[in-house]
Amino acid sequence: MYNSKITGMGFYVPDNIVTNDDLAKIMDTNDAWIQERTGIQERRWIPEGSEDTSAVMGAKAARIAIERSGLTKDDIDFIVFATLSPDYFFPGCGVMIQDMLDMQTIGALDVRNQCSGFLYALSTADQFIKTGMYKNILVIGAEYHSNALDKTTRGRGVGVLFGDGAGACVLSRTEDNTKGILSTHLYSQGKYADKLIVKTPSIKHWVPEILAGKEDDTSYFPYMDGQLVFKNAVVRFSEVINEGLNANNLTSKDIDLFVPHQANLRIAQFIQKRFKLNDDQVYNNIMKYGNTTAASIIIALTEAWEKGKVKDGDLVVLAAFGSGFTWASAVIRW
Ligand code: COA
Repeated sequence: MYNSKITGMGFYVPDNIVTNDDLAKIMDTNDAWIQERTGIQERRWIPEGSEDTSAVMGAKAARIAIERSGLTKDDIDFIVFATLSPDYFFPGCGVMIQDMLDMQTIGALDVRNQCSGFLYALSTADQFIKTGMYKNILVIGAEYHSNALDKTTRGRGVGVLFGDGAGACVLSRTEDNTKGILSTHLYSQGKYADKLIVKTPSIKHWVPEILAGKEDDTSYFPYMDGQLVFKNAVVRFSEVINEGLNANNLTSKDIDLFVPHQANLRIAQFIQKRFKLNDDQVYNNIMKYGNTTAASIIIALTEAWEKGKVKDGDLVVLAAFGSGFTWASAVIRW
């Protein structure tokens, strides 16, 4: 059996910085509340008039990842794209990126697992490589949240959390089985599907309802039972990280770098404490980008790598929890 390893990574975020003080001008919130509860200081939101979308940002990140992998677009033989904010209901963004990058006729798959989306995508790509079906897979996570948030006081509990951006990596076949993705673990618990959800528009609630003009209908905006999500997140993060470590006969002492999904700095700090990791062993950037959902882990991992925090031979642990509920981990020997 083959192994898979990340050979190139890239990320793209819009230039437009939206600070907590900027939000305080449009809704009843303040910098202290947001920072104390979440650690977020600012986020990037696609500005009006920009051409950026989830697919466009994903393509920008993918170009960087492919270039850094030392491959060309013609070496890529499959695409896995994760988002909760696709450009269209259908077709998925994966095929759009194939076209934007002028790639060959290959397969493209969209993954819809929200905050765990990147890890589900990475795991899917890993399985394809391990079975020998593909050699070089482009894995992308991208989110365009800002156009679909309730930016009024009514939506402040969710609206302040999310940012736009994209990250991508190339996962390539290697015959060195001491390096690369050692394991991935994926879970979901659909009984909590309605605790973090956007209900409308959907196939269930379609054009006639939209045309009826439902300005007061909050089902068009993300809803989150924040405290339930928080409580489940800290438990599931711990479980799935432990499972990954145990599966490889490792302990938290072996972790060189832990990159959690950037949902809330307080969740990341809780996990850091639970696993007795020092600040150098954890990478967070939610302060600058907010929660970019399927993009957050690969943006953070890329940024950590760019800063020299991911070195050859390092043990890197990734973990996520979010809507679904879904959660996942990946253990990587760099
Ligand atoms: N600014 C100011 N006040 C706000 C606010 C904001 N942006 N958002 C909510 N509030 C108010 C609420 O209205 C409420 O006021 P009240 O007590 O007068 O009713 C109060 O702050 C507390 O709200 P609550 O929602 O209970 O806050 P919280 O302490 O649970 O923090 C989250 C909210 C979202 C930060 C927190 O629950 C969280 O991070 N949850 C997990 C999120 C997550 O991990 N998501 C992962 C998947 S995306």
